[in-house]
Amino acid sequence: MKRIGILTSGGDAPGMNAAIRAVTKTAIHHGLGVVGIRYGFAGLVTGDFVPLTAEDVDHKISLGGTFLYSARYPEFAQEEVQKKGVEQLKKHGIDTVIVIGGDGSYHGALALTRLGINSIGLPGTIDNDIPYTDYTIGLDTACTTAMQAIDKIRDTASSHHRVFIVNVMGRGCGDIAMRVGLASGADAIVVPEREYDVQEIAETLKRGFADGKDHGIVVLAEGVMDANDFKAELLKYGDFDARANILGHMQRGGSPSVVDRINATKMGNYAVKLLLDGQGGLAVGMENNKLSTHDILDLFDEKHHSDETLLDINEEMTK
Ligand code: F6P
Repeated sequence: MKRIGILTSGGDAPGMNAAIRAVTKTAIHHGLGVVGIRYGFAGLVTGDFVPLTAEDVDHKISLGGTFLYSARYPEFAQEEVQKKGVEQLKKHGIDTVIVIGGDGSYHGALALTRLGINSIGLPGTIDNDIPYTDYTIGLDTACTTAMQAIDKIRDTASSHHRVFIVNVMGRGCGDIAMRVGLASGADAIVVPEREYDVQEIAETLKRGFADGKDHGIVVLAEGVMDANDFKAELLKYGDFDARANILGHMQRGGSPSVVDRINATKMGNYAVKLLLDGQGGLAVGMENNKLSTHDILDLFDEKHHSDETLLDINEEMTK
């Protein structure tokens, strides 16, 4: 093995740069070359490659986003497109690849491995929706960003005795909502993983106001429904002064937290060691606070399991 290619794919996440830095510095330490592949799998196919030195990744650990840029590139599902990518890699003497991205990216990493380029996938998405890992790179920063936004929303909600329905990201997964809801003291957390009853939520909010509370916060996972539609449902059961708020892409930005920097660094360092060991087609995860690996193929038959105890704790405290 001589040169590792590295790319980021799908939605960017804070900590991706820390992972790129860790891969680069670890690989150089072991005498390997590193090539950054820009714009994810799209850049792999067009040969948009930049050699990376240790200096290139200095001062990148504190930056949000991905300095290699990212793209969603569904075309990479086609075998002829994959083969074009492999040709580019061979032309540039790249014999292994590390892919940092969400679930779609794993299909690309597996395809490359099957075509003779050992590849490792790192979970890079704020959504925490990947099987066989309790954590994805970017989750911690995104949750802190959303929590801080809700802290601010609470100030205005209190001033006006309002109810806010705050929509947080996560695609079909409620992990961001569960964490942020509990951390921001929400009156209700609504996620796709669990049945909910709007009338019951309205009763909880009414009870809060009757007991002297001056605001209400409902954290709503985007995978459930639109925040305005939820507001309309809620107003059927109570005469609230309610507002819907979609936090949106601000949750993807910002300087990564210490947790994201450290976990991304551990994962990047580990991925290089797996490649040095001749392994490929593996997904790196973090289970019970320990690095783990699973065959990428196994991920396709498994679902991510959320830590629903967060919901239980919140319900016990609000009902
Ligand atoms: O996967 C990350 C994510 O931010 C999701 O939470 C969200 O549903 C989606 O990407 C938004 O995608 P885009 O940036 O393409 O609008």
